[in-house]
Amino acid sequence: MDADLRRQAFERESSAAKRALAAGDLDEAFRLIERAHILGQPWAGPHSWAHWEMLKIGWRRRDAREVRGQLVRLTAGGLLSWMGRLPVGNTGGANVPAEQPMPLPDDLVDLCK
Ligand SMILES: [Fe+2]
Repeated sequence: MDADLRRQAFERESSAAKRALAAGDLDEAFRLIERAHILGQPWAGPHSWAHWEMLKIGWRRRDAREVRGQLVRLTAGGLLSWMGRLPVGNTGGANVPAEQPMPLPDDLVDLCK
């Protein structure tokens, strides 16, 4: 799949996540950021953005596990992107191991080939 289309899809998901955040809908924002994480993993900047936003949501929720998990992922995520270690489908939250591949959402399968 064309990397430009994947990048455009990342931008769509991240923009939608920002709108959800602005509306105060943290659950929807987190769901959209998970999708942005799946799409953005190949690029250090977008990948780190996803973890930064998850960290902020974890902070707002006073979720210590999420905050700790995101601090680790924020430190390592950009490096893993740079090294090409990209667990397919990983949603990026602290509820899943950082390097565990996961099933892709059906509508992202073609974009992530
Ligand atoms: Fe990640």
